[in-house]
Amino acid sequence: MSNLFRIRYSTRVNNEYSVIQTDPWMLDSRITYLNHGSFGARVKPIFDYQMELKREFEFSPVNFLDRQPSRVDEARQIVAAFLGAQPEGFGFVDNATTGIGCVVNSISFSKGDEILTTNHVYNGVRQVLTKIANESGCSYREVAIPLPLNDSEEIVQAILGSLTDETKLLVIDHVSSSSAILFPVHEIARICREKGILLLVDGAHAAGMLDLNIDSIGCDWYVGNLHKWVCAPIGAGFVWTSERYRETTHPMTVSHWLYQGYVQEFNWQGTKDVSAWLSAAKAVQWGSEIGWNRIRKHNHALVTRMHAYLIDMWDVEPISPLDGSMLGSMATISLPKYCPSKMDQCLALRDELYLRNSIEVPIFEFQNRGVVRVSAQLYSDFNDVKALNGAINDIYISK
Ligand SMILES: Cc1ncc(COP(=O)(O)O)c(C=O)c1O
Repeated sequence: MSNLFRIRYSTRVNNEYSVIQTDPWMLDSRITYLNHGSFGARVKPIFDYQMELKREFEFSPVNFLDRQPSRVDEARQIVAAFLGAQPEGFGFVDNATTGIGCVVNSISFSKGDEILTTNHVYNGVRQVLTKIANESGCSYREVAIPLPLNDSEEIVQAILGSLTDETKLLVIDHVSSSSAILFPVHEIARICREKGILLLVDGAHAAGMLDLNIDSIGCDWYVGNLHKWVCAPIGAGFVWTSERYRETTHPMTVSHWLYQGYVQEFNWQGTKDVSAWLSAAKAVQWGSEIGWNRIRKHNHALVTRMHAYLIDMWDVEPISPLDGSMLGSMATISLPKYCPSKMDQCLALRDELYLRNSIEVPIFEFQNRGVVRVSAQLYSDFNDVKALNGAINDIYISK
């Protein structure tokens, strides 16, 4: 560990957080769960609420779905208000991938147009963008956002320097899945507006993790998940569309309400189980009772401390500032040099930690290095990263 890192760690990190008691989580308490970021986790009352809705549906299916459309609508209003999003532009979908699909399939691309994103893009989204580019004769390109990053201006400059006259659509993460870094979406939106480039923000991790006001960003579309940091059941994502594109943006599954309005189209995407959408509103209320700012503050302070600790223990260079200024509730840290750096070995280590030590944490290759991504949620404890460090020591050092 260089002196520079030590000084920054000791003088700049403010990682105070207090433990917040909640309802019990559905997670197996024997598992050290450091991967809230992938699929989130649910508290028991939200799980029970969804089960109750499913029972209610089975009891009288037509009554539940056909005679009570206002239930989806009420949930939509609650979740949209929580996210600072105009409800007229807010529609539920199953997940963020579906949301991205709705947007890119609603844009008319011409041969020669470019779809641009960054090399922090989520791999599933990369595939959706590649397919649409191939089918519409567009080019697809990823701007390199190299690591380490010192501040968000470096992201802005990298993107600004990559926009061309052909760039029709820019897709950026709000919180990157791989690097866990927050992108300066307001500034990027301002640049896109100036240049007449369409902007889709992939906010799969942002809802619940960040204090969102989607209307204020100034993007054309914003897509997100509610199962991650809002702790809603799986099957709750959303697409927010700016007023300008509401008439031309459609769900992937078109049904009765085609051309009858954005909200109508998204509220009915064929016969489906809407219990996750309804439970998302309940999850918003659950967090409000604790205080969403309190939850965010706790998670951010804890993950900032976890981040600094692992960097110190492993003597590695941080990929973002140690003060946590580019992080929300997750942090990605390079593995120590004696750990693997190739994807298949990283995945094998991930599985070994789960099977031997009951530690669930994502480990993967990113920008030619092996990395681990830790998440902090109300059920997390600082000792979780000590356990991770101990387990990695057992595998590579004490062997
Ligand atoms: C940045 C980002 N975009 C999109 C997705 C896809 O989300 P889903 O699998 O829920 O569609 C993820 C999933 O983790 C993600 O992290």
